[in-house]
Amino acid sequence: MNARRHTQFSFLSPLTGKFWLLALMLSVIMLAGCTEIGNMQEQPKHQKPYDESETFGAAAQDLDPNAIPVGFLREDAHLYTGRVGGELVDTFPMELTEDMILEGKRLYEGFCAPCHGYSGYGDGVVAKEGFREPASYHSDQLRAQPVGHFYEVITNGQGTMYSYASRIAPEDRWAIVAYIRTLQLSQHASLEALPDDIKADFGSSDAATDALSEMSGSLGETDE
Ligand code: HEC
Repeated sequence: MNARRHTQFSFLSPLTGKFWLLALMLSVIMLAGCTEIGNMQEQPKHQKPYDESETFGAAAQDLDPNAIPVGFLREDAHLYTGRVGGELVDTFPMELTEDMILEGKRLYEGFCAPCHGYSGYGDGVVAKEGFREPASYHSDQLRAQPVGHFYEVITNGQGTMYSYASRIAPEDRWAIVAYIRTLQLSQHASLEALPDDIKADFGSSDAATDALSEMSGSLGETDE
């Protein structure tokens, strides 16, 4: 078996020997042809980017204004702009998870809380020091805004608030939006929204129900 395999693939067999010889002769002829036929070795050569070029003016060409660097083709409008077909979206472009909300909390507290306050009432330390006070997230108007609005403000800035596009990656911006929604819910949850077992604890006492709805009602009116 071994011996057979050896003869089958031998490069020294009489037939393959001729083949190699033919291949060598052909390549010698073809290589010789290069200097005769093609004149690529005589075409103008530019050593430096701004060398003059008869064809283009300068050797280095401007990038096409529509050129997109590899890895930056941001096709997913939902994820990258918060709009689809020009309309602000009211859904997240990824699945919401607890980890995402916790990451959003961490980022919110680092980037946004200094002005917007830890709970989102617009009462951060910077605002207290005289910077324009942002609106509270707990107004009916901002509760009604689709998530795309929050994403868009983080991305492009708004009024005196600057853009965070260069500092916070798109996925992280959505995590912050998820946390803002969590903050809004934390200040404006109806008793109905509670899980059944917790609701039962409250539901037994009318007083607790009244107290809770009164509380969320008054918090909702903090702004405006
Ligand atoms: C330096 C202070 C400052 C920081 C930091 C800041 N903001 Fe703002 N933000 C403002 C101010 C001021 C406004 C109101 C802008 C205006 O209308 O002139 C605002 C407006 C907004 C609005 C628009 C609310 C509306 O009325 O529609 C959103 C949403 C928002 N900020 C989210 C964020 C998020 C999220 C972060 C963190 C990534 C953040 N901001 C960081 C100051 C800040």
